[in-house]
Amino acid sequence: MQGRIVPANAEWIAEAGQMIRSGALVAFPTETVYGLGADATNGEAVARVFEAKNRPTFNPLIVHVLGLEQAIIIGTFSPVARRLTEAFWPGPLTLVVPRTANSEVSDLVSAGLPTVALRSPDHPVARALLAEAQRPLAAPSANRSGHVSATRAEHVAADLGGKAALILDGGPTTLGLESTVISLVDDTPVLLRPGAVTVEAIEEVLGTRLAREDGSTDRPMSPGQLQSHYAPRAGLRLDAYDWGPDEAVLAFGGIAGKPARTFINLSPSGDLVEAAANLFSALRTLDASGASTIAATPIPRHGLGEAINDRLKRAAAPRE
Ligand code: TXA
Ligand code: MG
Repeated sequence: MQGRIVPANAEWIAEAGQMIRSGALVAFPTETVYGLGADATNGEAVARVFEAKNRPTFNPLIVHVLGLEQAIIIGTFSPVARRLTEAFWPGPLTLVVPRTANSEVSDLVSAGLPTVALRSPDHPVARALLAEAQRPLAAPSANRSGHVSATRAEHVAADLGGKAALILDGGPTTLGLESTVISLVDDTPVLLRPGAVTVEAIEEVLGTRLAREDGSTDRPMSPGQLQSHYAPRAGLRLDAYDWGPDEAVLAFGGIAGKPARTFINLSPSGDLVEAAANLFSALRTLDASGASTIAATPIPRHGLGEAINDRLKRAAAPRE
């Protein structure tokens, strides 16, 4: 049953929608490439996407929606952002915008960033699945990290094997090139990834030049600005076996409770999927406790543990 390729007809799309709602992963065609979809509001389902992709880090994922009405629940759209959606949605344009305060989308989707990437796909199967699932779908390209994107159901099966509960076969994708990604987080729109919508077409709608992430523009961005991930204010001690009563504690597995300022266990049962789903909100809560340091107990380095440890290492790195 796992990884089964099925025709993308109404019955199977309805079945796939049920599976998404129950937390399973479903691969589906879009007009660009196949996506590996999960309920964006279910942290554990999103964690399983990272596990399936075998990504050593948490790269933020694109959230797929039916249109602007659904998108504005998740992200804040400026007039410029709205103009771009009017011109290119549904279609292969992804917009990175600030997250709304009460977004139900998991923190893990954005890798802890205060922003979210949204796109409305222009493919009947993707749209029917969104309608059936009644959830925004977090979906990266359905290939293993470092492999080329999948444009056919068989490519997905070969690359991701049994990671998807179901692969909806909608035939070869038409564009075969991923969506263009634009950031609208600051005043100046910035091209983050060239893709199926050309820079020229976007500039025509904007009436201005599109800045590049490398800062090659009239108004250069400060370098690294876009990559800056959420960093806790508190210092982070990794692989800590002990802690003081004033420290905040980020624990994993069967760690005995000793007094701490605040204590959060990412997964008392030692489940890395559950731990990944809880990671970013736990960091925020511990940071908000006002502790000057967060002591993180050891987390295994296999599977999703690699990405969790990578994220913690970055959070612990000294910064200006
Ligand atoms: O055509 C596509 O976009 C396909 C189909 C399935 O929709 N999806 C896709 O997803 O290519 P993925 O995860 O392989 O690429 C997502 C891109 C990455 O370059 C990621 O860094 C960027 O979008 N991205 C996502 N969220 C972001 C955010 N909050 N800030 C900056 N970049 C973001
Ligand atoms: Mg990709």
